Amino acid sequence: MKTSTRTELLEHSRAKVELFKTYLSTYLNIISRVKHIKKIHIYDLLCGEGVYSDNSEGSPIAILKTIKDHYFSNNKSCPNIDLWLNDNGLSDIESNKSKIQRVKEHSKDIYKPSNLNIQFTEIDYSKIYKSVLDKVESFSEDKHIIFIDPHGYKNIKLSQITQLLNFGNSEVILFLPLFDMYRFANKSYDKNFKGGKSLNSFLNDCFYNKQMNFTTVFDFTEKLKGAFVNHNTKCFVDTFLLEKEKSNYYGLFFFTPNALGFEKMLEAKWKVDTDQGRGFSIRIENQSSLFQVLETSSYPTELITFLKNGHKTNSELYIFGLKKGYLPKHTIEILKPLRKTNKLLVKDLAGIIMPKNGYYLAYENYKTNPVKIVKYFLN
Ligand SMILES: C[S@@+](CC[C@H](N)C(=O)[O-])C[C@H]1O[C@@H](n2cnc3c(N)ncnc32)[C@H](O)[C@@H]1O
Repeated sequence: MKTSTRTELLEHSRAKVELFKTYLSTYLNIISRVKHIKKIHIYDLLCGEGVYSDNSEGSPIAILKTIKDHYFSNNKSCPNIDLWLNDNGLSDIESNKSKIQRVKEHSKDIYKPSNLNIQFTEIDYSKIYKSVLDKVESFSEDKHIIFIDPHGYKNIKLSQITQLLNFGNSEVILFLPLFDMYRFANKSYDKNFKGGKSLNSFLNDCFYNKQMNFTTVFDFTEKLKGAFVNHNTKCFVDTFLLEKEKSNYYGLFFFTPNALGFEKMLEAKWKVDTDQGRGFSIRIENQSSLFQVLETSSYPTELITFLKNGHKTNSELYIFGLKKGYLPKHTIEILKPLRKTNKLLVKDLAGIIMPKNGYYLAYENYKTNPVKIVKYFLN
């Protein structure tokens, strides 16, 4: 059998699965401690083969193993979970078998907690969307994580993703072949270009029918992210680039209404790729230190400009960093020298100067009535 992207999980896909796994494991840890959440619904709507011919594991197996690991490292307990695994394709590895059949078989030997329900289906993606939306709406008190990992982008509609996010109880992880899309994006506006119809309608959907021009794959990614933000104003949106081979990028887009969820996804990103936290690159072999990462990024300058632009609270600073793709620890690393030299003062609302190691940039300070509301003063 000839190996291909469909029979083996290539490096960038492994990074994608790894990122998803890291995120899910953190997510389960957080949610399991929130008493009022009765159930988590996990959807892998285009879940693939389960296990590939090189024995690498795809997303459904990664999900099951993450749940199992969570269960055993938490005193044999885990939140109630409904897992929906769907794929309507025929296996590229075993003839006469559907992909979902293989997933079912490979999942048999993985330990499953009794409060985990699994549904295996072979529904066409264009038809499953409505049922998922109904579930997200009906179980509005529960949490929903929806993983959408297509081969292309033909079936993907931004309006549907926006609807799934509308109830404020779901997160969406969407994987897109950015380089393939970018290659044809400008051309797709040309009416004589026959192959660009679905891309053109995707772009028109994103940019409200305004004709765009994209200069590089990075420019394309940033503009797409901007469009996703515009359509989902109540959500945090981030992207993570994965390089399949030199300059062939895939992108993982992450949507969540929750600041903590967003911080945890950023953490997962930085864990998978310590360089810039932007994405996994096959060229990156040496792990950069935090200091090196910040040295080459524009975040320090952006942060200083933000601080100079009026006094900010710790909550504002927390969100600013996250939206730029940086964690509180990165922000603190930049602010430390400024505080040492008194170029930056942190005061509470009564004007009392806070201790030098107090930044109050944790999620708890942002979310719960902050222990101290601080303002940052830059001289
Ligand atoms: C990129 S693969 C998913 C890989 C998987 N996440 C993994 O980690 O192994 C995309 C999958 O979408 C499935 N697919 C394509 N079009 C579909 C459709 N219209 N409805 C349902 N599944 C579809 C394909 O059979 C394929 O397995």
